[in-house]
Amino acid sequence: MSYETILVETRERVGLIRLNRPKALNALNQTLLSELMSALEAFDADENIGAIVIAGSEKAFAAGADIKEMAKASAVDMLNSDFIPTFDRIRAIKKPVIAAVSGWALGGGSELALSCDMIIAAENAKFGQPEINIGVIPGAGGTQRLTKAVGKALAMEMVLNNRTLSAAEALHYGIVNRVVPSERCLEEALQLAADIAARAPLAVQLGKEAVNQAFETSLTEGLADERRAFTLLFATQDQKEGMSAFIEKRPPEWAGR
Ligand code: CAA
Repeated sequence: MSYETILVETRERVGLIRLNRPKALNALNQTLLSELMSALEAFDADENIGAIVIAGSEKAFAAGADIKEMAKASAVDMLNSDFIPTFDRIRAIKKPVIAAVSGWALGGGSELALSCDMIIAAENAKFGQPEINIGVIPGAGGTQRLTKAVGKALAMEMVLNNRTLSAAEALHYGIVNRVVPSERCLEEALQLAADIAARAPLAVQLGKEAVNQAFETSLTEGLADERRAFTLLFATQDQKEGMSAFIEKRPPEWAGR
């Protein structure tokens, strides 16, 4: 399938999606967002793919929603638009999604990165919610995911006063997994994705689901869900293979069954 605003390739069991509107610093317009979700869903459905990386350019992961596309919209236009609901589709992706963030991750770009399961940040990465500068607030999860990630005090400062986080601050506040030299960012994200993609696929899928459940539910319900998922994995070929391989002191061969 050919796309207008993204570049898609596979590296063995890793699907790589690069946002590709360099002149607009990868601002997320409707086309880019729907192409991104289509590519994510295609990789999710492909059993040869075990993990997915989303990257931007060195200067910008994404500088937010496309302000030029949104500027003249009315409330009714926004209500009827697929733009914000499109972000929800990333939550349904079952495979791990890793963001490789270089440069600006602002507004919807920061929200996109925070919607991913893990973030590898380049030293030049900058995270922010500058919507207040243009008379609005984050609309794609920023006030919620950011607050859960960094706590109320900092989230307030970011949302109300455009406080931007450096890569080092993002690491300190637990938004990103690690910070790497800019030239290594994509390779590190691809390596992490390749490592996870080499693991037992069903355990990876249920592990992701269980960790995400911690943000949705009470501890009692979350623990019960985790126990059900753990138990369910004993119905898989991969559980038998993984435990036999350990006992027989050999590497496991995962079937994804
Ligand atoms: N939408 C549309 N175009 C954008 C854009 C955006 N979010 N961000 C950058 N661009 C465009 C600029 O208009 C410019 O295009 P032209 O050359 O045609 O003028 C080009 O990208 C390069 O940008 P700059 O010249 O501004 O580059 P810079 O290096 O001087 O500044 C920047 C970089 C600080 C990221 C600055 O571009 C900026 O502040 N961008 C807007 C960031 C923003 O407000 N994002 C939030 C959007 S709203 C949102 O995301 C809502 C939501 O929650 C879903």
